[in-house]
Amino acid sequence: MASVDHRVKVTMIEHYTETLFRFRCERPPHLKFRAGQFIMIGLEIDGKPVMRAYSITSPEWDEELEFYSIKIQDGPLTSKLQHIQVGDEVLLSGRAVGNLLPFSLREGERLWLLSTGTGVAPFGSILRDELTYQKFGKVFLTHTCRKINDLQYSQQLAEMVYNDPLCDDYAQKQFHYYNSVTRDPGHPRQGRITDLIRSGKLFDDLGVEPGFDPDRDRVMLCGSMEFNLEVKDILEEAGLRQTSGRNIGEYVLEKAFVG
Ligand code: A2P
Repeated sequence: MASVDHRVKVTMIEHYTETLFRFRCERPPHLKFRAGQFIMIGLEIDGKPVMRAYSITSPEWDEELEFYSIKIQDGPLTSKLQHIQVGDEVLLSGRAVGNLLPFSLREGERLWLLSTGTGVAPFGSILRDELTYQKFGKVFLTHTCRKINDLQYSQQLAEMVYNDPLCDDYAQKQFHYYNSVTRDPGHPRQGRITDLIRSGKLFDDLGVEPGFDPDRDRVMLCGSMEFNLEVKDILEEAGLRQTSGRNIGEYVLEKAFVG
C-alpha cells in the first residue's frame, strides 16, 4: 500500500463535465518531481487512506501541484474526490516516480505527445518545461476524446502553454496542438488518432512530413492499455524502439490512471 507522507490543502477546483475536473493543492516544500512523473494521491475514507496514481500536470517550477481527474460514480477514490472543496485535505505519497520523461528519449526533430482521455495529464507538465523545447525541434500534442466537451482541459492547456511567461517564446514557434473526437459529429476532426495516423490525415492536417521515422521522430504516449498497444504496434512497424532501462529508444509510454 502507498505510504501517506503528506497532508495538503486543496487550493482550487475546476469542473469541466460530469466526468472530468482538475484541482490544485499545496506542494510540500521538499517534494521534487520531473515533468511527466506521477505520484500517489488520495483521501481518507472510512478512516483508511484510499490512494491512486496520478500524473502531475503542473510544471516543475510551480509552487502548487495540479491534477486532472476522471469522476467515476462508483470509483473507490474518484466518487469522493470529485466532491472536494477548497480547504479540504488530500493525501500525497512522498515520492514522484515514472519514466514518461523527455529525459528518456534521444534528441529529435519532432516530439509527438499522443493522448486519449485523462492520458493528456502528464503532458501538462512536459509542455511547460523549457527543456522540452530545447531538446526537440517541433512539439505536437494530440488529444482524442469521445465528445467535444471532453477536450476542454487540453484546449485550456494549449492556451496556457502559448501564454506561459516561462516558455511562450519557445511554444509559439515550436508547439502545435491537435485534437479529434470519436462520438460527436459537431467537430471538424473526427476519428481515433490511430486511424488518423494510418490514413495520413494527422500529418496532412498539420502540414508536416507524413509517418514516423526513427531518425526524426520521438513519441510519448499516454492513454488506455488498448490505445497504448495499438500505437506501439504502429511505432514498432515504423522502426521506433521503446526506451528500456539504460537503452534509450525513440518512444516511451505510460498507462493513463483511472479509479
Ligand atoms: P472510441 O470512442 O472509438 O472508443 P475512453 O473514453 O474509452 O477512455 O476513450 C477515449 C478516446 O480514446 C475515445 O475517443 C476512444 O475512441 C479512443 N480509443 C479507445 N481505444 C482506442 C484504441 N485502441 N486506439 C485508439 N484510440 C482509442
